[in-house]
Amino acid sequence: MVACEFSGIVREAFKAKGHDAWSCDLLPTEILGQHIQGDVLNILNDGWDLMIAHPPCTYLAVSGLHWNTRVPGRPQKTEEALLFVKKLMDAPINRIAVENPVSCISTRIRKPDQIIQPWFFGEDASKKTCLWLQNLPSLKDTNRLYEKTRRGNQTPSGQNKLGPALDRWKERSRTYLGIANAMADQWGGD
Ligand SMILES: C[S@@+](CC[C@H](N)C(=O)[O-])C[C@H]1O[C@@H](n2cnc3c(N)ncnc32)[C@H](O)[C@@H]1O
Repeated sequence: MVACEFSGIVREAFKAKGHDAWSCDLLPTEILGQHIQGDVLNILNDGWDLMIAHPPCTYLAVSGLHWNTRVPGRPQKTEEALLFVKKLMDAPINRIAVENPVSCISTRIRKPDQIIQPWFFGEDASKKTCLWLQNLPSLKDTNRLYEKTRRGNQTPSGQNKLGPALDRWKERSRTYLGIANAMADQWGGD
């Protein structure tokens, strides 16, 4: 089960390998397929053998935490977001991967087991991504691109190229295909 996935990208990577893969999100799925639209917390006990979760990072990412001292009510949102992550990590599922950018999960819950980049998996993009793993091996690089200071998704100053737009978060949050394929190949089993 791919929790908090509207794109269907990881779900379809597992499906292509023959797995009975489902995604779950409050939003509808972008690719028609096995999708449960609703709160993932309601289906954690449904007998899944593997969960890959992409919880929202808005109130967790280190890059945005400085707002917590300026915006009233924001620290509470961070606490709620941490509680959501904790519930996912504590789900009664044997194999669990939780994915997030560099975030306060590391200081408040535990350090990540692995930090990956899309360019370890053939994608010309930079996005430091942490993985918290339970009963799963670290992902092995599948196609590590050469080191360079700027990737295809970055401006010369290293920022993400996508400008402000209403659905910018969506564009930025879709899982990279190279990473999805590595997850399906290496965590899907036979
Ligand atoms: C950072 S995005 C992850 C997107 C994902 N990487 C993808 O490719 O679709 C986080 C997602 O979590 C979803 N979400 C938030 N709370 C949820 C909940 N309680 N149950 C299911 N999905 C939830 C949001 O709707 C959002 O689409």
